[in-house]
Amino acid sequence: MKPHRLVAGGVLLFGIALIEQCASQPAPPPELTPIVSVKELMENIVDPAADVIFDSVVTEVSAKGIVETRPTTEEDWIKVQRAALLLAEASNLLKMPRQIAPADDTSAQPAELTPPQILAKVDADRAQWGKYADGLRDVAVKGLAVAKAKDVDGVFELGSALDTACENCHLEYWYPGDKKAVPPKP
Ligand code: HEC
Repeated sequence: MKPHRLVAGGVLLFGIALIEQCASQPAPPPELTPIVSVKELMENIVDPAADVIFDSVVTEVSAKGIVETRPTTEEDWIKVQRAALLLAEASNLLKMPRQIAPADDTSAQPAELTPPQILAKVDADRAQWGKYADGLRDVAVKGLAVAKAKDVDGVFELGSALDTACENCHLEYWYPGDKKAVPPKP
């Protein structure tokens, strides 16, 4: 091969290497702006969404007899699906660094950690906090599947799995003193 061809080939390869390097440069992460605290996420997004799931399959036994609540219409099932979806995405919102409670919040009970104490615990090990958020996500993703399949038993079972995912995190970060009183859940 003539020397100038070798040089041209080398330049071409170098060019490809450069292009590849540029393509593999990760884009900077988008800037995220948390709007509310963890507590307000709980009150306004997580808790109401969980209630939709908890309340969708209920059997009440009273003097009047047995009253069964089940999702029946397409609309009922879409509500359950949306609640599961909201919970799954809320796990990502929980992972975004944000305040635990509004600055003027003084509602922590004696047995509860205060918002600054909770934040210190979260900041000390964000990976662990993320695992509890993932616990919520995994149950919610399963919930989305059972709601799409219109599986009444699946939604009922989901209720207790969901409760466990909530309690696991609360027992670690919110009222860890109760851990002794509550038997460990899977
Ligand atoms: C990754 C951790 C985590 C998960 C998962 C989680 N929570 Fe919470 N939650 C917290 C923390 C921390 C607080 C305490 C915030 C505070 O009041 O200082 C809290 C507080 C709450 C509160 C009280 C809000 C208030 O007004 O004081 C409710 C209600 C609640 N969570 C419901 C739920 C439900 C329902 C689920 C499951 C569907 C859930 N949480 C899952 C971390 C979590």
